[in-house]
Amino acid sequence: MEPLILKYETIILRDRIPTDIIDHRRWLSTETAWLEWDSPWESNNPNFVSKYLEHTVRQLQMPLPPIRRTLEICHYDGTHIGMVNAYYIDGDRERLAVGIGLRDSSYWGKGLGTMAFRLWLGYQFAATGCKRIYCQTWSGNTRMIKLAAKCHFSQWERRKDFREVRGQPFDALTYVLSQEVFKAMHPELRII
Ligand SMILES: CC(C)(COP(=O)(O)OP(=O)(O)OC[C@H]1O[C@@H](n2cnc3c(N)ncnc32)[C@H](O)[C@@H]1OP(=O)(O)O)[C@@H](O)C(=O)NCCC(=O)NCCS
Repeated sequence: MEPLILKYETIILRDRIPTDIIDHRRWLSTETAWLEWDSPWESNNPNFVSKYLEHTVRQLQMPLPPIRRTLEICHYDGTHIGMVNAYYIDGDRERLAVGIGLRDSSYWGKGLGTMAFRLWLGYQFAATGCKRIYCQTWSGNTRMIKLAAKCHFSQWERRKDFREVRGQPFDALTYVLSQEVFKAMHPELRII
């Protein structure tokens, strides 16, 4: 299968390549600020790092699926800065959700996450034909909450005090975006 490369403004989404593993290792050892924001309750598990790396390497060895579940994010100059993913909430095939992580914190707050998420949404809506796509975060992750709003998501569910982060309770948030709203807001992102 042909490798997939998507471009939008200053962002590139592409399939994983072997040298990306070097960056994923760095993002699990020295450049780890993202772990404090991206589902921090998961990284408390002592096997988190080894399982995460194993999974990342395994995905690289598998044939590319026709509809991608993950792509790597690069800045337009080619610098590899993070990844996007897609999954079913609680395994429910009616509820496709998308996620994003800019692993290198020096790239946060520059609008790059919003661009990458819009491009990923355009791809997922086109490739899957889903009418609604969800995303999930927690009430302490202001950057992600703002990003969801900038991508025109609406709140679908708030579970009060469902998460504990650094000893404090936070709400679990699920947002939803319909294909109609996305198409109306981003006619330039009809990808396939
Ligand atoms: C969440 C994430 C993808 C957002 O991407 P980004 O490129 O930083 O986001 P953007 O710059 O497009 O938008 C972020 C918004 O948060 C605001 N913001 C930036 N820093 C902030 C801070 N410290 N506190 C509150 N808001 C902040 C920005 O001003 C911007 O809003 P605005 O455009 O309305 O002004 C990125 O920060 C990231 O990967 N973080 C770590 C991993 C993570 O949290 N992933 C999401 C898991 S659910």
